[in-house]
Amino acid sequence: MDDGALNGRRIVVGVTGGIAAYKACDLVSTLVKAGAQVRVVMTRNAERFVGRLTFEALIGGPVSHDMWAERADMEHISLADFAEAVIVAPATANIIGKYAHGIADDLLSTALLVFTCPVIMAPAMNTRMLGSAPVQANLRLLSERGVRILEPAEGRLACGDEGVGRLPDTATLVEALEDALGVASDSLAGLRVLVTAGPTREPLDPVRFLSNPSSGKMGYALAAEAARRGGAVTLVSGPVALSDPRGVEVVRVGSAEEMHEAVQARAGTVDVFIGAAAVADWRPVEASDHKLKKTGREELTLRLQRTPDIIAGVAAWEPRPLVVGFAAETEELLAHAEEKLRAKGLDLIAANDVSRLDVGFTTDANEITLIDATGTRSEFPIMSKAEVAGAILDRIEELLARGRESGR
Ligand SMILES: Cc1cc2nc3c(=O)[nH]c(=O)nc-3n(C[C@H](O)[C@H](O)[C@H](O)COP(=O)(O)O)c2cc1C
Repeated sequence: MDDGALNGRRIVVGVTGGIAAYKACDLVSTLVKAGAQVRVVMTRNAERFVGRLTFEALIGGPVSHDMWAERADMEHISLADFAEAVIVAPATANIIGKYAHGIADDLLSTALLVFTCPVIMAPAMNTRMLGSAPVQANLRLLSERGVRILEPAEGRLACGDEGVGRLPDTATLVEALEDALGVASDSLAGLRVLVTAGPTREPLDPVRFLSNPSSGKMGYALAAEAARRGGAVTLVSGPVALSDPRGVEVVRVGSAEEMHEAVQARAGTVDVFIGAAAVADWRPVEASDHKLKKTGREELTLRLQRTPDIIAGVAAWEPRPLVVGFAAETEELLAHAEEKLRAKGLDLIAANDVSRLDVGFTTDANEITLIDATGTRSEFPIMSKAEVAGAILDRIEELLARGRESGR
């Protein structure tokens, strides 16, 4: 979050009756600490999950919850007069459906029809509920009307199911508000940023490939954050199940060779390169044109050859961008990361331990140590990938400023 960006801004937080309602407390607390003026509207069902008193203590005033409360003004109108931005977090299937169809049977759903400022909905629900045809159709309707729909996060849900449907972390919700309020920073304005993300697929035959479990989330978070800071961002992405970050040019590729070509095509036009993709080191020497048959075979020997070293290629460009890499290691993390930093001529490397289940390849969180070319190390606690992206870009900005001072 940018210092002071939300100071004094007027925000309405709608809270509806989902398991994630308790996470809205953290959102409200963060907004209040950032100096925002916050009004909270709770549905009756939200109060089954979290007490009104919690929010009242956080905002230091009453929570709006009753259309029929005795008061001088009409609250659904005064809320709309007050708000510069609205976020409904969590947004139940119910409020999404009501908003999409103009149903106004409580304070929040009525006020939603009055707001003319940006409205953000953060859907959170069971994966099957989220994927259901009515919910998807309602989300599309709202999106077409300019409502900002946040992508639910993936992971273990309260009901025990695994999948998409979690409320995004507080940092992501705050960022969406900053975006809606137009307070995104411009610290990377005028700079061209190229990011790679996701795995690559090295074909064995038309239906099989060698790959790895990279989700692409770290690279996408970096691209989104760089764009939010005003950079002109291109994201070269391997195959992932993520939607394009707002304001980012996305180039989709399959193999390491394709990623290499897409990156090389931009030589000389990049100020910052961030190699966050988990590029396969090896590819089959020959990829069969036909599906390999198993009949008559007990063994299959694959011959592999090295794929192009994309990041080392970028580090050799003239003019040379600031080059940032990742070291995904399973042992001797920092020693291997330092070796990679030196061997490839990088300016900065983010080391993360991918042998752990709580952070790394497929999770929403990451724990990194940053090492720069002078050997300076900065360790960070476990953070969401959005927060990690912020920390990496802060460090990149420091290195760019240092480079400018020394006339590089
Ligand atoms: C234990 C429990 C958890 C629930 N969690 C969710 C949820 O995460 N997302 C959701 O859309 N609905 C959830 N529901 C269903 C809503 O509470 C229900 O649709 C309700 O009518 C929503 O009311 P509201 O939108 O006015 O707050 C849950 C219900 C129960 C009993």
